[in-house]
Amino acid sequence: MKKITFAALLLLSFFGFSQSGSELWLSYTKIENSDHRTQLAAAINAIVLASDSERSQLAAQELQQALESLLDKKIPILQQAQPIPGSIFLNIKSNDTALGKDGFIILRKEGKQRIEASNDLGLLYGAFAFARELQEIGAAPFEKREIPKVRYRMLNHWDNANGTVERGYAGASLWKWFELPYRLDPRYVQYARANAAIGINAVSLNNVNASSRFLTAEYLEKIKALADLFRPYGIQVFISVNFRSPRTLGGLTTSDPLDPDVRQWWKEKTAEIHRYIPDFGGFLVKANSEGEPGPQDYGRTHAEGANMLAAALENYPGIVIWRAFVYKADPNGDRFKEAYEQFKPLDGQFDEKVIVQVKNGPIDFMPREPFHPMFGAFKKTALAVEFQITQEYLGHSTHWVYLAPMFKECLDADTYATGKGATVGKVIDGSVYPTPISLMAGVANTGSDANFTGHPMAQSNWYAFGRLAWDHTLSAAQLAKEWTAISLSQKKEVIQKISTLMLNSHATYVNYTYPLGLHHMMGEGHHFGPQPWLDKSQRPDWTSTYYHRAAASGIGFDRTGKMSNALALYAPEVQNTWKDPQQCDLNYLLWFHHLPWDYPLSTGRMLWEELMHRYYQGVEEVEQMRLAWAQLEEEIEEETFNNVATRLQIQKREALWWRDSGYLYFKTFSNMPLPEGLTPPTRSLEEVKALEKIYHLR
Ligand code: GCU
Repeated sequence: MKKITFAALLLLSFFGFSQSGSELWLSYTKIENSDHRTQLAAAINAIVLASDSERSQLAAQELQQALESLLDKKIPILQQAQPIPGSIFLNIKSNDTALGKDGFIILRKEGKQRIEASNDLGLLYGAFAFARELQEIGAAPFEKREIPKVRYRMLNHWDNANGTVERGYAGASLWKWFELPYRLDPRYVQYARANAAIGINAVSLNNVNASSRFLTAEYLEKIKALADLFRPYGIQVFISVNFRSPRTLGGLTTSDPLDPDVRQWWKEKTAEIHRYIPDFGGFLVKANSEGEPGPQDYGRTHAEGANMLAAALENYPGIVIWRAFVYKADPNGDRFKEAYEQFKPLDGQFDEKVIVQVKNGPIDFMPREPFHPMFGAFKKTALAVEFQITQEYLGHSTHWVYLAPMFKECLDADTYATGKGATVGKVIDGSVYPTPISLMAGVANTGSDANFTGHPMAQSNWYAFGRLAWDHTLSAAQLAKEWTAISLSQKKEVIQKISTLMLNSHATYVNYTYPLGLHHMMGEGHHFGPQPWLDKSQRPDWTSTYYHRAAASGIGFDRTGKMSNALALYAPEVQNTWKDPQQCDLNYLLWFHHLPWDYPLSTGRMLWEELMHRYYQGVEEVEQMRLAWAQLEEEIEEETFNNVATRLQIQKREALWWRDSGYLYFKTFSNMPLPEGLTPPTRSLEEVKALEKIYHLR
């Protein structure tokens, strides 16, 4: 790795910090293969636009910008009804229903070059797709038809009014609330372009632990400024609302959803919002969860709360997104079952404008979770899936973890709701049980860092999320290649090497943190680093020891009936795959079983040995990643290369921290030595505990 010298740092401080990565996946580096570039440059002479709406002009301009950079050639835009030889023809066919809402056809073959869509948003998506295709396949012919599978493809920002970001690891909030609405940071446009390029069409701007401030006229002006800026890119704005707002802002004595004054207050507030933002997307609500107010405060149900907001929206197209992330901190219960049990009796009671947003797994965005048992179990309620793109439990922004394999594991999981093939993805897109609304949400990993995401490789997680929200059948491998090709390198071997590293990175992270289905053992509150020893002496409710249940008898949370009967929430076919510890996928083993330390596994090792091997293997894999990355020094732009290289050093240190904690702590129960061939850590349990304690110092 090249050392950054003091002189270089001084230069950076004079001329401003580098903007490396600030263009996200829209840097459009000139096509290096000169054969391809010459062929394309000879074939493409102009863009012909047959429509004149603001958004179709934007589509043409985006395509122009991409082509001019990729081909290093001026490409004029002509506004006329017919294509000319050598032009790419952008055409809206509003009566062609086969094109689908917001879908498109892109083609370059047999002398024809076209983008067709039924509306101007489809044209914009088509323009981005056309540019992506050229970067991927160069001068070869292509024809592609795409229609988004999910209606709302959404980012949830957990950004606060004071500029902080809950669980944000890439600097402060993107939204400069104190500058809005007067000053519009140019990064807002880059953000909108990048989102449109991957099909994201909805964003909620503020934290789900919501401040009522966002519903004041002062803040609606600010939100309007962002909504106006995002509109041409097809992005609708949502607001996370605090259920107690009628009291906080309206001066009412209650926020009871059945109270006529409360209902009237929300109606008027909704009308007011629409005066600022006519195409307002709707409300996102976290209610009766982790101390947030909600309808249960008044003896009402989630359905009554959500339907009250739906009624306020009745004259508008907007929707209510009601989160199902609810639990009581009951150390004798099983948090796994909470949301299911609270919501299942309400299936069929939600208004058509309501969609219930369910986290991918039943606990809380753990590095690996079985899919949430609500998926497939609700026949009369639209369910959305919520993924976390920000890496709250996946190494913040010091660990390189490509999340698409984890997203896919959930989307491709079979719920067996209507027989084989009823995957979570199909539940979400409405093809298992037809639903009026479909939505996929990702908790954003964006912030004020120049490259938006802190870790340069974390851009790929935002990218892959957006592309999967558009089409959940795309593969993690395809998306890794695609992102690498348009972001890091045009060389096939380099793309291959980097995408291989990406594809293995999630399994690696799981190995050194939560092997074999362990979960929820991170440092309390900050969620950084390991704290498997957190027990009832430190907090009364749910602790790490509650989740892993390590004892002399063994380890794991039996959910097949002995400690909890949560497995019974799934369809019988799903239960069958997990209920027998001999058959259960080892990745989920300790999610469902409590097993003796010497339990023999299919790998030929006993449980203790397998656990230790995985911890050690995880660390070894990080070292391999570090070495493999080091070999790419000549291939990757210097600043990005160094950025990733130094973060890999940090990751190695933290992987060791997790591994050593796991070994030293669980050994106190298993009383077993490290398997042969593995070298014991040089530090003690007290020493690794002390590391974690630092994060609690005031
Ligand atoms: C996690 C996270 C919280 C967040 C919550 C949610 O528990 O730690 O910060 O508010 O999820 O999804 O609402």
